[in-house]
Amino acid sequence: MQSVQYIEVLCETYGRLTCKGRFHSLKLSFPIRYSELLQVVSKGGGESAILRHTQRNKKLFVRERLKLLLDDESFLELSPLAGLSMPYGDVPAAGCLTGIGKICGIWCVFVANDATVKGGTIYPIGVKKQLRAQEIAMQNRLVSVYVVDSGGAFLPLQSELFPDKLHGGRIFYNEAMISAMKIPQVAVVCGSCVAGGAYVPTMAEEAVIVDKIGTLFLAGPPLVRAATGEYVSPEDLGGAALHSRVSGCSDHFASSEKEAYECVRNIVSTLNYEPVPEELVEHDHPLYSSDELLGLAPRDYSCTLPVKLVLSRLLDGSRFQEFKAEYGTTLIHHHCAWIIYGVLNQRGTDDTYFQKALSFISGPTFVVSQAEAQASRLKAQASMMAAVACAAVPKITIVIGGCFGSESYAMCGRSFSPNFLFLWPNARVALVDSKHLSVVPQAGDSDCTDESELKHLKQKLEEESSAFYSSARLWDDGVILPQNTRKVIAQCLQITEQQKYQVLPPYQYPV
Ligand code: COA
Repeated sequence: MQSVQYIEVLCETYGRLTCKGRFHSLKLSFPIRYSELLQVVSKGGGESAILRHTQRNKKLFVRERLKLLLDDESFLELSPLAGLSMPYGDVPAAGCLTGIGKICGIWCVFVANDATVKGGTIYPIGVKKQLRAQEIAMQNRLVSVYVVDSGGAFLPLQSELFPDKLHGGRIFYNEAMISAMKIPQVAVVCGSCVAGGAYVPTMAEEAVIVDKIGTLFLAGPPLVRAATGEYVSPEDLGGAALHSRVSGCSDHFASSEKEAYECVRNIVSTLNYEPVPEELVEHDHPLYSSDELLGLAPRDYSCTLPVKLVLSRLLDGSRFQEFKAEYGTTLIHHHCAWIIYGVLNQRGTDDTYFQKALSFISGPTFVVSQAEAQASRLKAQASMMAAVACAAVPKITIVIGGCFGSESYAMCGRSFSPNFLFLWPNARVALVDSKHLSVVPQAGDSDCTDESELKHLKQKLEEESSAFYSSARLWDDGVILPQNTRKVIAQCLQITEQQKYQVLPPYQYPV
């Protein structure tokens, strides 16, 4: 066992953070620990923005809202480090918290704006984060709860937010699709809900609006004044009373935030959604401590990953039955009770690796012969990719080391739509490992490649392949500590399992 010092969970990328706008709390000193970074991000727009939000605007901070909404604090937060070091500055947690938590025992996806980050306005990365949460809701058939407190689109970046297919409008398109899939969506308006954002609660199956602080309108009072000269208060234009008693856009009037979250919990508890039975959640622990995974997470990838040691710290009772143990030894398959389905590779590229994975994933009916596969490694790899893509089981990908080039496809990286994808802090994801860069031909004459240019490219590649760089851009669902891996996988399995207990009609039209 390597020493626990082997991986230092430092967030090196963020030593170079430059902070723009009001997010003073993100002026980080280098190097900063992962947990400290999470701590900083958990304060949203910073202490003074929270004070302003809670004292002046009399609203609850988004994390306090989640405490009232969810059964407990053991929810799975998704991509909390998204939005850091964007070309347009730092947007803590991309301006909205997303995750999966239990409401009355039922796993639900939540999307909750953080109004302490530029009034909860939606940045490009915030759109991406919301779209990912909706994708998770669709893939896993999870009830969704939107906690809306947002100034709408962040106007200076409208061209990156509005016109394209996967821009803001897609959120509303998805709401209709989710509804058509008969997956209920519930919204709470507990702050501003303006312009396009106003469709979020109005397209949801049920909406709750909080008196005095919740407003819902396509154009706010300043715009009305500019267009018609009329002064109208936010409350009269689109407050809780108007929408609950006159327009009907809201189904429930709540006199306080607390009452609103109780109302959402009541709604969810009466949806006829079944929780995963508790007895399935019982399990025995690994024989070895998960903390030892810290010592197994490599900083560089020249060595072979001790994957079996990793597995023995993740699986129930450390039991696992290896498939084709003597064949394609750079790849390990295992299936142990219901708790984990997985394919782990420990870095190797022979074709038996792909062939072995193929026969494991596709089962014995697969007909490509070993001889054929050996003759064409590429073909075997392509078949493995097809098998991974088509496997009809929940796919949970944890990148524990390097994931370069086609490994990302074969091992169910983002483009292969795993249900969930997490990275260890030491993970590196890139088209090519920077240490192999010198052998990759450069643009122009490879013989005359300028050394400093190559050095620069190498540095860039190293930076761009870090787990933190990836997570900031939502290429994954978050960075997790190695010692939390088992807990996260267990949560993901329960979440993916829940849909088995639902009797859902085929989808046709929105509810
Ligand atoms: N685009 C860009 N920035 C915006 C914004 C928007 N749509 N809405 C708010 N902001 C910024 C403000 O400029 C301010 O920035 P600063 O912290 O650098 O000064 C920050 O967000 C907070 O806004 P502020 O008005 O000070 O906070 P508030 O809590 O009093 O009010 C809102 C928040 C969202 C209710 C209010 O700002 C608002 O009504 N904004 C306009 C909403 C709108 O018309 N949106 C149309 C989008 S299509």
